Amino acid sequence: MSDAPKKLHIKTYGCQMNVYDSERMAEAMGAKGYTLTDDPAEADMVLLNTCHIREKAAEKVYSDLGRLRPFKEAKPDLKIGVAGCVAQAEGTEIMRRMPLVDLVVGSQNYHRLPEMAEAAARGERPVDTEFPAEDKFDLLPERPVQGRPSAFLTVQEGCDKFCAFCVVPYTRGAEISRPVSRILAEARKLVDKGVREITLLGQNVNGYHGAGEDGDWGLGRLVRELARIDGLERIRYTTSHPNDMADDLIAAHGAEPKLMPYLHLPVQSGSDRVLKAMNRKHTAEDYLRLIERIRAARPDILLSSDFIAGFPGETDQDHRDTIALIEAVGFGMAYSFKYSPRPGTPAAGREGVPAEVADARLHELQALITRQQRAAQDSMVGREVGVLFEKPGRLPGQWVGKSDYLHAVHVAAEGLAPGVLARVRITESGPNSLGGALAGG
Ligand code: 5AD
Ligand code: SF4
Repeated sequence: MSDAPKKLHIKTYGCQMNVYDSERMAEAMGAKGYTLTDDPAEADMVLLNTCHIREKAAEKVYSDLGRLRPFKEAKPDLKIGVAGCVAQAEGTEIMRRMPLVDLVVGSQNYHRLPEMAEAAARGERPVDTEFPAEDKFDLLPERPVQGRPSAFLTVQEGCDKFCAFCVVPYTRGAEISRPVSRILAEARKLVDKGVREITLLGQNVNGYHGAGEDGDWGLGRLVRELARIDGLERIRYTTSHPNDMADDLIAAHGAEPKLMPYLHLPVQSGSDRVLKAMNRKHTAEDYLRLIERIRAARPDILLSSDFIAGFPGETDQDHRDTIALIEAVGFGMAYSFKYSPRPGTPAAGREGVPAEVADARLHELQALITRQQRAAQDSMVGREVGVLFEKPGRLPGQWVGKSDYLHAVHVAAEGLAPGVLARVRITESGPNSLGGALAGG
């Protein structure tokens, strides 16, 4: 590799795990002299960090690769790499289908990216989709200065739940938890570099069971230990499974002020029949009881969920059960998806519901969820909330931050800067964000 500075363009698809992984890939390549660019036209290397969770996301990668062809023709030395879950699931297939791809790196092997890039520069087409035994994060370079007040930190990867629709157990592998000491060390380093909010990441993050000095720790204990770090003001975690909401984690929501009052806890459906067919191993009633316990610990918590519309075998009654569950809970945020069969998953071979029925149900779920989101947002008006400021807003003098409840908040005031955590009185609720003024100011 020459010493001239090289440019790397990364496009990230899908979940927050991928956002984090893209950052770590950028850091690994940064150690080899690559700087990031937003413009693929000026890049020496383009990496697509892909998502395989729904068919649309996976197919988009192939169309985006096609769109990179003119860049490669204009600059034959441009190297194109595919990373993430599509790479993991379809590594050699990508190489076969897309001759313009120079390297394929699965989600467990980012530490190998620099040497794979060198191999690609020599004209090889390396593919690595193995699941290595080591903790991949230990093999990556130390995190450079971020300059951002909010950071992700992966504590757990993979999933053993095998929901009938989901590829994650196949693309991300079995559940592994990083040891407590490594997580604490990484968190302290992030805080030393100015980070004030850490979001703990894992496909099944509340199933965390990492080695501590005195045996296995669950997520509740990890959160309480992280909360002792001076300068770390906010802790969040995502994504969780209802069956792994341990008592001490629920209790931490009541006892630990640094643990933010927002919880993404996907339920997928409100019908027991569908939940059973999905292999979720909980009922709608179990979920509702769990929500009651969480709200007893932290009454103001804002709840979020994922829903799938049109799962194979879903009847109108099942769909109405889902609507009823959404109405019973009252979500502050939720995501809904039309079921899409994923190759290799148990549900893929089952007969689906007609597309127009699934579309109509999805539409109905989304309309209800949007109303609930809007109501939750509007209910913030007149309240005082914490806001961690992140970046300047579009208007002069305006800053944007995230509230305790994860709403975007705009404030125009003197003295704001990235990393400032302030109390804000909410005065208005717009389509996608809140507006307010510094409390007492
Ligand atoms: N079809 C539709 N939605 C899916 N999800 C996962 N797999 C599928 C699929 N095959 C959704 C689930 C999950 C979220 C990340 O994506 O709701 O919680
Ligand atoms: Fe997929 Fe279910 Fe695991 Fe979530 S819990 S990653 S939906 S298998």
